Amino acid sequence: MTEKRNMKNTVITFKNAKKAGKKLTMLTAYDYSTAKLVDEAGIDSILVGDSLGMVCLGYEDTCSVTMEDMIHHAKAVARGTKDALVIVDMPFMSYQTSVYDAVVNAGRLIKEGHGQAVKLEGGIDMIPQIEAIVKASIPVVGHIGLTPQSVHVMGGFKVQGKDEAAARKLIKAAKALEAAGVFALVLECVPADLATYISSILTIPTIGIGAGAGCDGQVLVYQDMLGISRGFTPKFVKNFGNVGEMMVEGFKQYKKEVEEGTFPSKEHTFSISTEVMDKLYG
Ligand code: KIV
Repeated sequence: MTEKRNMKNTVITFKNAKKAGKKLTMLTAYDYSTAKLVDEAGIDSILVGDSLGMVCLGYEDTCSVTMEDMIHHAKAVARGTKDALVIVDMPFMSYQTSVYDAVVNAGRLIKEGHGQAVKLEGGIDMIPQIEAIVKASIPVVGHIGLTPQSVHVMGGFKVQGKDEAAARKLIKAAKALEAAGVFALVLECVPADLATYISSILTIPTIGIGAGAGCDGQVLVYQDMLGISRGFTPKFVKNFGNVGEMMVEGFKQYKKEVEEGTFPSKEHTFSISTEVMDKLYG
């Protein structure tokens, strides 16, 4: 029997969703098995986020993530994904340095990482990079508001666009990024009313994270929404499952059964004939 398949999602899916007023879904994934599960759930797109640095590699922020890290994880995600659009984050200093670097590194994420689009952080200053990548036939997602690669300039992971000047700057950046050719725009940690307004003036979909329900779609880091992340949970994260707890319980049960000798039992064991064993014992 052939497996039932949804349609492969592309940039056209994003365009049509905005036109039809259909909400888009995006989740992060960083490996083959998780990508398969996210894809199976029918999520529209998978972001191989540079949040990888924090949730998988244990760094304090995303600044230490390298191109090699992103390519390695993007490849695994691409192998596990059939229908979702695979978007790969451009890591810190892979595009800020020059337009040339931006195009070469975006190209590597597609060619070697097998992504289908790239995402990069930043406003007006990144327009030359975005235009050049789009010109090289690589679809780009923009990312404004809280841009974690600028954490040291922002002075922490803080809500952005709260006063008039900051809000106007975000509106200007959103319009400029759309004009530069991004096919979607992530709004991170932006007040809900402002995000709703930005979404209403753009023809491309906005994807919110900590930006309220007025965005055209939502994205979350999967470890956060499944209770796998330990420690601080941002206000915008909703818990959709206690997978972290289930894992700890499973690990504890395994430890207990190994220590008391009940695992592995006969059903988890391979047999050999006594005839052969007798010969071995001599
Ligand atoms: O790296 C990431 O996971 C992201 C999302 C939080 C939007 O950029």
